[in-house]
Amino acid sequence: MTLQNDLFLRAVRGEKTERTPVWLMRQAGRILPEYRAVREKLSGFIELATTPALAAEVTIQPVDLLGVDAAIIFSDILVIPEAMGLPYEMVEKRGPYFPETVKTPADVARLRVADAEADLGYVLEAIRIVKRDLAGRVPLIGFAGAPWTIFAYMIEGSGSKTFSKAKRMLYVDPVLSHALLQKITDSTIAYLKGQIRAGADVVQLFDSWAGILSPEQYRTFALPYIAQICDAITEAPKTVFAKDAWFARADLAALHCDTIGLDWTMDPVESRQLVGPGKTLQGNLDPCVLYADFDTIRRETRKMLKAFGPQRHVANLGHGVYPDITPDKVKCFIETVKEFREW
Ligand code: CP3
Repeated sequence: MTLQNDLFLRAVRGEKTERTPVWLMRQAGRILPEYRAVREKLSGFIELATTPALAAEVTIQPVDLLGVDAAIIFSDILVIPEAMGLPYEMVEKRGPYFPETVKTPADVARLRVADAEADLGYVLEAIRIVKRDLAGRVPLIGFAGAPWTIFAYMIEGSGSKTFSKAKRMLYVDPVLSHALLQKITDSTIAYLKGQIRAGADVVQLFDSWAGILSPEQYRTFALPYIAQICDAITEAPKTVFAKDAWFARADLAALHCDTIGLDWTMDPVESRQLVGPGKTLQGNLDPCVLYADFDTIRRETRKMLKAFGPQRHVANLGHGVYPDITPDKVKCFIETVKEFREW
């Protein structure tokens, strides 16, 4: 099916665009009252994420209500550990929790490599419904967590400021660490290929905890697995978002990916110099700008657009939108990007 609005896809591929495309990480979620209305009728996040018709509905909400240039499938990065045999719970207001964690080589051996259709069929079904119901209005982004970030949750068992249990494992048992990272990588490749077969137009890897590793650890335990995924996925364009990994930008530039996501600590001009002309950059407004008044949001958004320039840029925040930001502020950001032509 030909897309009516393919700005995002063209920007990702490095083709010319009349204006900068825009979407927001975490756009499908609690910022929208319409999302909360769907969510309230259910037992929780996991029921919503595992009910394809409802996951599809909340995926499309930001396209209708906010006017973004891409949809992102409503799911979570933690479906991969679950598909490998390590289930999670989503504790209200606290975040993810794993009743069992990985501690020993036997624990790693017990985990399976996820099968996309058998273990994650509910996500693939949601993607098929979204593609049908979007009917080509905008492209659909599929996603997964990068192996290091998934590893961090599987060892730690929950969110953490330091992820010191997960980092400890890298130093104490690098053999176990590499074995688990490889199993996560194999699962992620199968999963992303499944998402693309089901209809995802672009896939994004979220390495949310990249920034807590030293540059050397990142090169040893994170980048090689991201590289494997980028090399294996040849069916669709790929975006890699390594949060806080400002030290890794030149390394990320060597990956076989199309787009690199930047957080707000990364200067657009400096990032372009480090990455070179061959990749699209995505980001990177500080999500906290959206707490400010409308004039400030417009001013900061224009400043960001000017810094990135008119081509090979996808406008986004530097991380997911915070749930207490009001939709009118999000719309102000989106409208400012859509109207901007003053490069
Ligand atoms: O709109 C979208 O971006 C698509 C949906 C999406 C979710 N999670 C839904 C979600 C995406 C892309 C994610 C990715 C994700 N999940 C990441 C990587 C991006 C990042 O933020 O760094 C991470 C680290 C997770 C793990 C996770 N899931 C945490 C730490 C939490 C709790 C914090 C929170 O925001 O509540 C979640 C829960 C979660 N994932 C929610 C949503 C909408 C909130 C649950 C709810 O609605 O009750």
